[in-house]
Amino acid sequence: MKQTFHITTFGCQMNEHDSETIAGMLSGLDYTPSASRNDADVIIINTCSVRENADHRFFGTLGQLKRIRKERPDLIVAVCGCMMQQQHVIDKLKSQYPWVDLIFGTHTIHRFPELLQNVRQERVKLVDVMEDSEEIVEGLPVRRNHPNKAYVNIMYGCNNFCTYCIVPYTRGRERSRDTEEILREVKELVKDGVKEITLLGQNVNSYRGTGRQGQRIEFADLITELDRIHGLSRIRFMTSHPKDLSDALILAYRNCPSLCPHIHLPVQSGSTSVLERMNRKYNREDYIALVERLRSVCPDIAITTDIIVGFPGETEEEFQDTLRLVEEIEFDSAFTFLYSIRKGTPAETFEDQVPEEIKHERFNRLVETVNRISAKKNATKVGCVEDVLVEGASKSNDRVYTGRTGGFKLVNFKGPEGSKGTVVSVRITDSNTFSLTGVVECDE
Ligand code: SAH
Ligand code: SF4
Ligand code: F3S
Repeated sequence: MKQTFHITTFGCQMNEHDSETIAGMLSGLDYTPSASRNDADVIIINTCSVRENADHRFFGTLGQLKRIRKERPDLIVAVCGCMMQQQHVIDKLKSQYPWVDLIFGTHTIHRFPELLQNVRQERVKLVDVMEDSEEIVEGLPVRRNHPNKAYVNIMYGCNNFCTYCIVPYTRGRERSRDTEEILREVKELVKDGVKEITLLGQNVNSYRGTGRQGQRIEFADLITELDRIHGLSRIRFMTSHPKDLSDALILAYRNCPSLCPHIHLPVQSGSTSVLERMNRKYNREDYIALVERLRSVCPDIAITTDIIVGFPGETEEEFQDTLRLVEEIEFDSAFTFLYSIRKGTPAETFEDQVPEEIKHERFNRLVETVNRISAKKNATKVGCVEDVLVEGASKSNDRVYTGRTGGFKLVNFKGPEGSKGTVVSVRITDSNTFSLTGVVECDE
């Protein structure tokens, strides 16, 4: 009987992709995935520490595992990801969850197969966490979650130290992958049927690679190179910091046909004074000017964002600046977050933490505004024909599909059998706040 594994992933695309790598390494060891945690031989939890509720969810999941671990002494429980880069988490695991078999961090993923073998053979408990690393390990196997879409890491770490954010402490300093390695990986993926890639980095705009002739490759140059790959229909990327968004990248929206007309450009706040306290290094006007430039080059570009509500010291007036910015820019959609204190970040010690009830009340007002605008933007798509990469069929009817437009809008639509994995033209017939409805016009 083959051994089986089950992975639970919290957090961002970076973590999702790390889980795909962990699954790839396990497949290399002849493990197969198990649909449920209950009958897996190895259970892995890949954690996120960006907000407090991610911490809570991790410890909640671990609490559920305690009983299963007791009943099945052969079971191996491994925990990894961003939370493991925090000493206070390791201390808590050691004292309150001593039955956890293996702990590894974001810099030691490549050592997982060796660590797992040690735990299995010796039945020892292992902790393998490095504070930071310059090293980029290439060529790790990946078990992709989707046949036609793939994540491609182009850089790791973050140097920005926004005052609220834990990521620079959990993912270390910025380092870029070699350009040739990225191109090689993407060509392989395309050969394997991938139509859409999402380039990943905490701040892809500060990508710095080296070309074959030793020339410097900036992020926009990388997009230009990738755009030339035959058979690759779509390029996306996450995430882009407004302070580093170059004119060359803006022009890539005009010059690179496979670059999707969408940018996720986290603004965090519409108030210049809050942005300053957040150490974002741009102001409200800079952000508005960037959006204008993007729209002048690519009028149809979808703009999505992240917004934090209740940052320390945020006044009602500063919050209203955010509301006004949302109205002015008209984001296609936005992820909205309640500010969450993170241990070890500068904002942890800022005075004037905003009371919970005020945070929630502002959050509700913001969500109402964001949703109203999303619904309005989506309604403008009714009657248009959009290119959609067909991702899946609905469970109840195999001719009803879901997919995303170039602008990253979710579409449910009717189409001919066998459309999955192709890019089709869909006429949009209806819309709501979070999705569009349509019908296929003709095949690619
Ligand atoms: N590197 C990306 C974001 C990574 S974290 C970027 O800079 O754009 C994803 C989002 O989580 C952030 O954009 C921010 O909006 C939110 N976030 C980060 N730390 C937070 C905190 N302490 N409280 C609430 N939201 C936070
Ligand atoms: Fe966090 Fe700021 Fe880095 Fe994004 S840019 S990961 S928000 S420190
Ligand atoms: Fe979370 Fe780490 Fe991503 S903290 S958001 S999983 S980089």
